[in-house]
Amino acid sequence: MENIYSEYERRTKNSKRVFERARKVMAGGVSHNIRYFSPYPFYVKKAKGSRVWDIDDNEYIDFWMGHYARILGYAPRIIADELKNVIFEETHLGFVNEYEVEFAELICEVVPSAEKVRFCCSGTEATMYAVRMARAFTGKNVILKIDGGWHGANTELSFAIHKPYEEDESAGIIPEIKKYTRVIPFNDIENSVRIIRENKDDLAAILMEPVVGAEFIPADLEYLKVLREETQKIGALLIFDEIITGFRIALGGAQEKFGVIPDLTTLGKIAGGGMPIGVVVGKKRIIDLCDPTAENTDKLVLTGGGTFSCNPLAMVAGIKMVSYLRENKDKIYPQLNQKGNKIRKELERVFNSYGISVRCNGCGSLFRICFPVKKEIKVKNPKDVRDFTDVEKREEFNLRMVNKGVHLMRGGGAVSLAHTDKDIEKTIQAATEVAGEMVKKVNFLN
Ligand SMILES: Cc1ncc(COP(=O)(O)O)c(C=O)c1O
Repeated sequence: MENIYSEYERRTKNSKRVFERARKVMAGGVSHNIRYFSPYPFYVKKAKGSRVWDIDDNEYIDFWMGHYARILGYAPRIIADELKNVIFEETHLGFVNEYEVEFAELICEVVPSAEKVRFCCSGTEATMYAVRMARAFTGKNVILKIDGGWHGANTELSFAIHKPYEEDESAGIIPEIKKYTRVIPFNDIENSVRIIRENKDDLAAILMEPVVGAEFIPADLEYLKVLREETQKIGALLIFDEIITGFRIALGGAQEKFGVIPDLTTLGKIAGGGMPIGVVVGKKRIIDLCDPTAENTDKLVLTGGGTFSCNPLAMVAGIKMVSYLRENKDKIYPQLNQKGNKIRKELERVFNSYGISVRCNGCGSLFRICFPVKKEIKVKNPKDVRDFTDVEKREEFNLRMVNKGVHLMRGGGAVSLAHTDKDIEKTIQAATEVAGEMVKKVNFLN
């Protein structure tokens, strides 16, 4: 690893200096932990299309794509032009505006589970509100989540995300969380059904991603169908967190692709067209629990925070983004899927050709590599990745790729429309060189 670090430090001297400044005034030098990587992250000064440039003038093909939000690539012209046309001279008003109505109508047209909409400012808020609505609607308390599932910094769901799963994800969280937030194993029908039935008397909802963002592992269709049936049988809600998959796996999200329709859905990322956003959508009678004009306000759910909610810029950018995806969906999604398939297949081929066992998980435009410790290991859920693959090797792969001008997040990322065939070829070429380096290292150590 030393050589990779020194190579990185040689390329990123300015970033190192800025990071040293940052550490003095910001905890760990960052405001979002995922943006840190060892030895220090590079600082970006410009981004366009599939590329970012750091303050040392290194150019990277990027697959992090703004936390997977930039499905059109960075700085898409069509959205920038639209924002310029926003008539507001202020960036923030705090009044209702017509854009939010237009955007809510559009979302209801394209997302299968959306009968009504509530906007907020982040995905974390969206999952927080969805949990609240589920509890109010059912009058029950327990939320079942997937082990390894991340739903933002939401306190109530900050459990069983990383290893060791049995411990709280953060200090400062009341231990009682575990009493009401419990865990089901992803893609494991038998054990999930057992836990659902054990909790049925107090089960408010199952909240899950249909393609788990931690490793981009898609749910088996049968698994989703069983969760849908079981929740319906016992009067609990099924909530899909489609903050990554919404507008990405298909225009209507993973629910459209799988044909399994949840009661509530949380959206974010792509929906904001590059501006901050969170959205909760779902059945009218659930979303209407937030209606301050309702006659019966006994069950009124507070979702009204958010000084910046429905910010006109976010609404305009979101309308443009979703309209564009809708108008071009027949071209966009096959193209994204084809590029995603290619990158997954090629990464596996390249490493396997060097005798290094890898698995590249993913779905559509999402991909993520992992290094199983034994060839025969099957990776069915994020826990398998953490228990049975070499995550340090993946970090090494990541940094080696950075040194070759390709930025991935934990060995993976999201293909955007801005990624050309050439970008994909260059990425595979870089991975081939990295595989060669990694196999040499192993041979040397042996
Ligand atoms: C699946 C999922 N849910 C929720 C969130 C939280 O969204 P935000 O970062 O906008 O708060 C994220 C963010 O990464 C996410 O991936």
